[in-house]
Amino acid sequence: TPSTRYEAENATCQGTVDSDHAGYSGTGFCNTDNAIGASLQWTVNATTAGPANLSIDYANGTTAARPMTVTVNGVAAGTQQFAPTGAWTTWQTAPVAATLQSGPNTITLTATTATGGPNLDYLDR
Ligand code: GCU
Ligand code: CA
Repeated sequence: TPSTRYEAENATCQGTVDSDHAGYSGTGFCNTDNAIGASLQWTVNATTAGPANLSIDYANGTTAARPMTVTVNGVAAGTQQFAPTGAWTTWQTAPVAATLQSGPNTITLTATTATGGPNLDYLDR
């Protein structure tokens, strides 16, 4: 099945939707607040229940990881490290494995450090 893209600017971004670092998809990206608990929440639709390989596009122009927990429909699904990408204009995808239900799924990333998350561009399902 072809992948479907869910842009961060159409999700719930706890921060600002910015467009000052080139290379993003769509019209902008989510610059999460630099705070513990800063989050981005997508509603992702699936036609069938089961495991899915998601990819999240992000940039981290610092020299330290920006870890975020992942929850799927409120259930913990691990932590993504979001390692440095070298520049705020260098965007990379991080793979995330998730078990989806049929219909809408709520996927939430939540920062675990005071630096917040990376800049987040999209989720592909
Ligand atoms: C810079 C950068 C932002 C980024 C921020 C951060 O201000 O321009 O896009 O979100 O750093 O450290 O989170
Ligand atoms: Ca930020």
